[in-house]
Amino acid sequence: MKSAKLVFDGKEYELPVEVGTEGEVGLDITKLRAQSGAITLDPGYANTGSCRSDITFIDGEAGILRYRGYPIEQLATQAMFSEVCYLLIYGELPNKEQFAAWRRGLSQHSFIHEDMLKFFEGFPTNAHPMAILSSMICALSAYYPLEHTEEGVRLNIMRLLAKAKTIAAFTYKKSIGQPVMYPISSYSYAANLLRMMYATPSEPYEVPKVLENALNTLLILHADHEQNCSTSTVRMVGSSQARLFACMAAGINGLWGPLHGGANQAVIEMLEEIKEQGGDYKKFLQQVKDKKAGVRLMGFGHRVYKNFDPRAKIIKKAADDVLNHIGMEDPSLDIAKNLEEAALADDYFVERKLYPNVDFYSGIIYRAMGIPVEMFTVFFALGRLPGWIAQWKEMREDPATRIHRPRQIYTGATQRDFVPMDQRS
Ligand code: CMC
Repeated sequence: MKSAKLVFDGKEYELPVEVGTEGEVGLDITKLRAQSGAITLDPGYANTGSCRSDITFIDGEAGILRYRGYPIEQLATQAMFSEVCYLLIYGELPNKEQFAAWRRGLSQHSFIHEDMLKFFEGFPTNAHPMAILSSMICALSAYYPLEHTEEGVRLNIMRLLAKAKTIAAFTYKKSIGQPVMYPISSYSYAANLLRMMYATPSEPYEVPKVLENALNTLLILHADHEQNCSTSTVRMVGSSQARLFACMAAGINGLWGPLHGGANQAVIEMLEEIKEQGGDYKKFLQQVKDKKAGVRLMGFGHRVYKNFDPRAKIIKKAADDVLNHIGMEDPSLDIAKNLEEAALADDYFVERKLYPNVDFYSGIIYRAMGIPVEMFTVFFALGRLPGWIAQWKEMREDPATRIHRPRQIYTGATQRDFVPMDQRS
């Protein structure tokens, strides 16, 4: 077995080395503090492996993303989202019988408890859908507490996947004041989601195949991305043995921020702003490069991808397909394409290895589908749900899991004496 040597304060420490199946190397520092008194310091965990995982492999330099070994390019174009859910959570593609049972289960559990409809009534009309989604997912803990058996866990996983899309569609219906629509068992996940949003009791909605396919692709592209902010949040909360639904609500809230899943909403807002100011994308890029302005090119850059984001390539094509089908001209798409071209040729972005990420084009597709901007991150969350579940399940079953509890380097005041109020100025 390989090992590494660390020399600190005149003493040598041997660190075991762990090598993954794709050759990734990790120095094991679990005993470092006990042996040397020192910890490692890595703000933002950019260089820290928090777990061993069999689920997703990313090579950020080569632009590779695989779920359970299968390339994202194959899954995004050939698989159904519901079978990718199964693959991520249970490790293998389902056979025909397993898939039929899986779909049946997802269909049976897609209704939500009628009492929960009262919660929807309580939210203000302008509530952000991510606030509603995370609250409703957490509230499922109150209705389905049984998790002390493996069967209980299996059922709750199924319930979560099945009900989340119904909750998302109800959230939308609530925001426009329409009655809710329930799912139809013969429809795919993507088609059901669109139908529940756009059909009404008096008017059916034929889901266009192009939109169903594009949404299916988007959901698959978002399904997992190893130890990102929201997934690490799920594992962090789950390490205390908190319930599945509570961990997922934590993940949803982690995803909400504009530097993570909220970027798809931020991209559209950015494109709108450029459009309103006359479409001068070059001026906008100048502001981005002028750090004082505090403006970022949303939808660009990634902690892991330093060459290209393989998901962005697939999404760009899906955006073209959807817009061609709808016959819609979106000036934002032109601004986005101009921005992309200019940024890719600009030294600021080239030197920092900043490329379009998955969110640069996803908002354009969602908008073309008629999905309101505030719902974009909800769609990302629905896509990421199977990944969070898979990571939570893997963590739960891993005997090496300990409660997550990082250390710190304290930089505050050293000991000083309390000054009573009457002696203070
Ligand atoms: N626009 C302008 N400059 C940027 C951008 C950007 N979008 N992203 C990074 N930089 C600069 C940053 O200012 C820094 O420059 P310098 O070295 O001169 O200080 C350098 O590039 C490195 O940036 P960083 O902030 O250290 O990189 P990070 O790995 O901590 O952050 C990121 C990654 C995704 C948060 C960041 O690139 C960003 O804020 N992008 C815009 C938001 C976005 O699109 N997020 C969606 C990510 S993909 C969906 C998901 O999985 O969440």
